[in-house]
Amino acid sequence: MIKMKKQFYITTPIYYPSAKLHLGHAYATTLTDVWARYKRLRGFPTYFLTGTDEHGQKIEQNAAKAGKSPQHFVDDVVIGIQSLWKTFKISNDDFIRTTEPRHESIVQAIFTKMVNNGDIYLGKYEGWYCTFCESFWTNTQVGEDHVCPDCKRPVHQDKEDAYFFKMSKYADRLLAFYEEHPQFITPESRKNEMINTFIKPGLEDLCVSRTSFSWGIPVKENPKHVVYVWLDALTNYISALGYGTKNDELYQKFWVDEQTEIVHILGADINRFHAIYWPIFLMSLGLRLPDRLIVHGLLMMKDGKMSKSKGNVIDPLPLVEKYGLDTVRYYLVRETVFGQDGQFTPEQFVDRVNVDLANDYGNLLNRTLTMIQKYFHGVIPAYESNVHPVDASLELLIKSTIQEYELLMDNLQLTEAIMKVNTLVARGNKYIDETQPWILAKDPTQAKTLASVMAHLAHVLLTATMLYSPVLVESSTKALNQLGLGSDKQTYEAIHNLQTLSGCTITVPQPLFPRLDPAIEVPYIQQTILKK
Ligand code: ME8
Ligand code: MG
Repeated sequence: MIKMKKQFYITTPIYYPSAKLHLGHAYATTLTDVWARYKRLRGFPTYFLTGTDEHGQKIEQNAAKAGKSPQHFVDDVVIGIQSLWKTFKISNDDFIRTTEPRHESIVQAIFTKMVNNGDIYLGKYEGWYCTFCESFWTNTQVGEDHVCPDCKRPVHQDKEDAYFFKMSKYADRLLAFYEEHPQFITPESRKNEMINTFIKPGLEDLCVSRTSFSWGIPVKENPKHVVYVWLDALTNYISALGYGTKNDELYQKFWVDEQTEIVHILGADINRFHAIYWPIFLMSLGLRLPDRLIVHGLLMMKDGKMSKSKGNVIDPLPLVEKYGLDTVRYYLVRETVFGQDGQFTPEQFVDRVNVDLANDYGNLLNRTLTMIQKYFHGVIPAYESNVHPVDASLELLIKSTIQEYELLMDNLQLTEAIMKVNTLVARGNKYIDETQPWILAKDPTQAKTLASVMAHLAHVLLTATMLYSPVLVESSTKALNQLGLGSDKQTYEAIHNLQTLSGCTITVPQPLFPRLDPAIEVPYIQQTILKK
C-alpha cells in the first residue's frame, strides 16, 4: 500500500490546438476533473492543470492552410478549447499555453542546463521520419514496410543537424525507479510494455531540436534550432507552477513538497513520453519525479481511434446542448472502464441515461420526495436506527459504500467507484419495495416505521448524491436543494451524520433526468452528431 499524501497535483495532457478538440479529449479532461473535484470535496489542497501544446510542424502547416500566422491560428483554436472546458464545468486552476513567455523562458533555461551538464549534445540525425507524428524511428521500428509504428503512414529517410539528449545514460536509473515505485504506471501492463518495447532493447538518444521548421522555442545557444516538441511540451507540468522563477510558491508546494502526490493523466498514445522521457528529463535536472502516471484507454470509432487527423470525431458540444452536461460527464466516466478502450454508441448513451440516471437515481429521488411530501408535509423525519427489519442491512451498505468508494476514488478507479454508488441507489429502490411505505401509511400504528423509512431513504439519497457530485456537477446541487439541504450545509461530512436531513423541508420534486425515447434519440444522435 502507498502512503496517503495530503495534497495533490493533477494534470491532463496539454492538447495540440491543431484542430477542434473532440469527445476523446473531453473524456481525458473530465476524468481528471472528477478526481480533482473529489479530492477538493474531501478537503485536500488540490491543484489541477490543463492547457495546450502549441508548437510544431503540424500546427505550422495547419496555420498555413488556414491562411493565418501560427500564433493567430492557435489563439483562435484555444478560445474554442477554453470555452469547451467552461461548458464542461472543468475546474482547472490554471491553463498553460506553451506559447506563453512564462513557459518559453523556462524551456530555454532547461535546455541550457542540459547542454551545460553534458546531457544534450549537438549531432546529426539520420533516420526514418514520420512527418505526421513528428517522430524519427529506427530501422526495427519501421520494419520492412517502412511505415510509422504509431500511425502506420509511410516514413522517409531524413537527415539534419540536431541536438540530442543522452537517454541511454539514464536507462538503469529509470528501471530502478520503476522497481522502487511499483505504483508509478497504472495499469501495470503499460509499464511492462515500456520496459520490453523501449528500454530493454536499448534506449536511443532523443532528438530534442529541429531545424526544418521554425514554429517552436528557439534554442538560445543556436537559434536556427527550435526545441523539439516533447522537451517543450512535458516541461509545462513544472513551468506552470513557476519552476525556475522567483515566484515559485506553487512549485514549492505542489512539486517539491513530498506531501504532494503528483498525478499525470494521459492516454496510451503518449505513455512513452511520460513514462520514459519525462522522468529522465527530471533526473537530468535533479528534480523530484511524479508519483503516478494514470494511462487511460482511448475512445474508438469503427475505423479505429477517434482522432483529429482522421476526422472521425464526435463533437461533445451538441451532445451537451441536447442532453445536458451531467449525462455526458456521467456517460464518459461510467461507460468506459478506466484503462480500457471504449466505443461511443448512441444506443449505449441513451441506455445509460435511462437506466442509471432516469430509472435508478432520478426515480429514487422522485419517489422519495413525493412520499415525504405526501406523508410528512415535506419535512424529513428524524433518523432512527433499526426500526424496520431491513434497516440494519441498509445502514451497513451506506457505510461500506462510502468506504469502498473512497478507496477506489483514491486509487483513481473512477468507474468502479461510481458503480458502488449505483449499487447503493439500486438498494434504495429495493428498500422501497421491501418496506412498502404506501401500506405503512394506511396503518396509524406504523407511523414511526413510516417516518424511519423516509429518513433512511433521504439519507441514501444524500449519500449517493454527494458521492456522485464530482461527476454530476449540476444535478447534485439541484438534488441536495430538493432535499432541503441549504447550500452552506452541502459538505462531504454531511454524509457521516445520519441526522443531517432531519427536519429539512424538501422542495417540490422535479425530475432531474427525463427518460429518453431510444426510438427518437438514437436516430437523432446518429443523424445530427455522428453524421459524416
Ligand atoms: O498528444 N480517446 O496532444 P493530443 C480518449 N500535445 N482520449 C483521447 C483520444 C481518444 N480517442 N484522443 C485524444 C498530444 N485523447 C500532446 C500531449 S502532454 C505533455 C503533450 C486524449 O491533442 C488522450 O489523453 O494529441 C491523449 O493522450 C491526448 O488526448 C492526446 O492529445
Ligand atoms: Mg494525438
